[in-house]
Amino acid sequence: MAKVIVIYYSRTGNTKKMAELVVEGIKKEEVETVLKDVKDVDADELLKYDALVIGSPTYYGTMSSEIKKLLDDSVKFHGRLEGKVGAAFASSANVAGGNETTILDILNAMLIHGMIIQGDPQGDHYGAVAIGAPDARATKECVRLGSRVARLVKEISG
Ligand SMILES: Cc1cc2nc3c(=O)[nH]c(=O)nc-3n(C[C@H](O)[C@H](O)[C@H](O)COP(=O)(O)O)c2cc1C
Repeated sequence: MAKVIVIYYSRTGNTKKMAELVVEGIKKEEVETVLKDVKDVDADELLKYDALVIGSPTYYGTMSSEIKKLLDDSVKFHGRLEGKVGAAFASSANVAGGNETTILDILNAMLIHGMIIQGDPQGDHYGAVAIGAPDARATKECVRLGSRVARLVKEISG
């Protein structure tokens, strides 16, 4: 059975709330999922999952150093994450504060791993974003992201 890990870093709780909503979306599609704080994730375990969804607050327009460290540690498995589904989400304080650049930086690493990324023509195009704590719009986008990832994983893993 397909399994998705949702990984987040969160200092003040906003990205964590987003992660919980992404999990809700994955569960709606009846796909197995695990939610983890990045401090409890070892790069070795990334191999176990069919999809990785990673969320970070925006720090100076990019991901937090904790998320970057996990991605850098994943070099150990370079080539072995190929074909897994990837997705990202981000929280910032300001509109145009860098959420999309943060997401794209995470997706960039995933693409280098050979992972499969699906954009969204209707919802948040690159991945779900929130300004501060997720409001009603961001809540919908996080759940939507989770459901879309889960549906893609089901399609790919047959
Ligand atoms: C070191 C640092 C850098 C930040 N840089 C930005 C930034 O570039 N743009 C922005 O809009 N918010 C920035 N923020 C605000 C956080 O992205 C925002 O408060 C976010 O919602 C925090 O998420 P969290 O509650 O999951 O920790 C920064 C915060 C910190 C601590």
